[in-house]
Amino acid sequence: MEKPRQIVFATNNGHKLAEIRRIMGREWDVLSLSDIGCDADIPETAETLQGNAEIKARYVKDCFGYDCFADDTGLMVDALNGAPGVYSARYAGPGHDSAANMALLLENMKNENNRKAHFSTVIALVTGDEIHFFEGRVDGEILREAEGTDGFGYDPVFRPDESDRSFAQMSADEKNAISHRGRATAKLIDYLKTL
Ligand code: IMP
Repeated sequence: MEKPRQIVFATNNGHKLAEIRRIMGREWDVLSLSDIGCDADIPETAETLQGNAEIKARYVKDCFGYDCFADDTGLMVDALNGAPGVYSARYAGPGHDSAANMALLLENMKNENNRKAHFSTVIALVTGDEIHFFEGRVDGEILREAEGTDGFGYDPVFRPDESDRSFAQMSADEKNAISHRGRATAKLIDYLKTL
């Protein structure tokens, strides 16, 4: 078997890393920020997913010299005019965790009958002096209460249209096959194969 090709994924989020490694398979050796000795908490100061993904990928290229990709994800809820969106990680305020974010989302949605929402992921890939973007989206609805214990982030309160279960009730492979990150990563892999 050929040696896996190395690439850096600009994250220290263990859940994202595990998903991406599983999706990319044995052909790729995906290194995290800590694997390259980077313990920076790269500030996500842009107002778009694309902007934040670009900041993270460029930071690694500029400071460490590695070709790299980064992702940024948001949960957009129709009845909340697209919130929490690009601010999904900080919805309940800085320093709050996923439980607090989900609790606030369920509270803000408690009188809403329109439950439509989608996850979007943008991946930025920096290779040499080029940058490329890959997007993935999954449509679904916000549940009335958290269901399931797998996955991470908002997974327990999101049910994709393709299923009758929340992301947190699915196996890793079931989620990756239809998820925002799975779809964006499939496009990234197709592109990497052409290099
Ligand atoms: P970020 O891409 O790390 O900025 O993530 C934004 C927010 O969305 C964080 O609160 C994450 O926990 C959450 N999030 C990211 N990806 C997923 C996912 O695949 N499922 C559920 N929540 C996610």
